[in-house]
Amino acid sequence: MPEAVYDLRGLTVRHLAAGHALALENVDLRIAAGEQVAVIGPSGAGKTTLLATLACTHRPETGAFTALGADPWSLDNRARHKLRARLFLAPQTPPLPPRQRVVTAVLAARLPQWNFWQAAVSLFKPADPEAAFRALSRFNLGDKLYSRVDRLSGGERQRCALARMLLSDAQALLADEPLSALDPALSQLTLATLQQEAASRNAALVCSLHQVELALAHFPRIVALKHGRIAFDLPREQVTDAMIAELYLGELPPANSPLAHEAPATLSGGACL
Ligand SMILES: Nc1ncnc2c1ncn2[C@@H]1O[C@H](COP(=O)(O)OP(=O)(O)OP(=O)(O)O)[C@@H](O)[C@H]1O
Ligand SMILES: [Mg+2]
Repeated sequence: MPEAVYDLRGLTVRHLAAGHALALENVDLRIAAGEQVAVIGPSGAGKTTLLATLACTHRPETGAFTALGADPWSLDNRARHKLRARLFLAPQTPPLPPRQRVVTAVLAARLPQWNFWQAAVSLFKPADPEAAFRALSRFNLGDKLYSRVDRLSGGERQRCALARMLLSDAQALLADEPLSALDPALSQLTLATLQQEAASRNAALVCSLHQVELALAHFPRIVALKHGRIAFDLPREQVTDAMIAELYLGELPPANSPLAHEAPATLSGGACL
């Protein structure tokens, strides 16, 4: 069996601010090196929480969790920081420093690999602009190399964060709704780039997606979350229209409601849920 990048057993995660509601409950998940997994499920199902947990930015309440063979929460801060550098999360809304140039923001992915002086100098003179340009070009964003981050559109910011991912040396590539602000052509390009990159470094790729059709078309394994639990975890060939309908059941207004403009989407209907 290939080496596990992640092993989660009976994992429970709670957001403290939410009163006592569980965001993830009894989650079992094993993800091997080189696996490419789409995480789907209705809004509030726990997709972002799962990715934050995999990135070791959110601490589980109970259960067993290992990332790259270590339990991050039993490590000291320094060791956990080193482990996090090998797990890269591109959030849906990347918190990029607003006045920074794109080139600097992208090269910041190399900070964990640099010493203090290299990092300090890079703030004034980008250390390797060619590498940043190559990464941005793979997302059709090479022309923004010297733009200010706060002058990018939402979709450009997202791709800037993904370009940053390419410069990291992470073994787990985690992308939270990387296509949410992209048009169909850019969505295809972005997915293809992420998948090529993950395959080339034999990294685990975990993407949360609202576009169920893209998930099924591009990812061999589908993990579906609902109400913080795994509804199913299957190879895409085994996922049926009925399972998808069930997953989103209750998330749409009833057909006779004035809020329902369209019949619920199905896979064969060609709509995205
Ligand atoms: N910072 C937070 N504080 C308190 N509760 C939170 C926080 N973030 C998420 N939650 C709650 O945890 C649950 C899971 O949220 P999460 O963001 O993981 O869902 P999601 O599947 O990513 O949804 P979406 O598709 O809308 O992005 C929801 O009930 C949400 O309200
Ligand atoms: Mg989310």
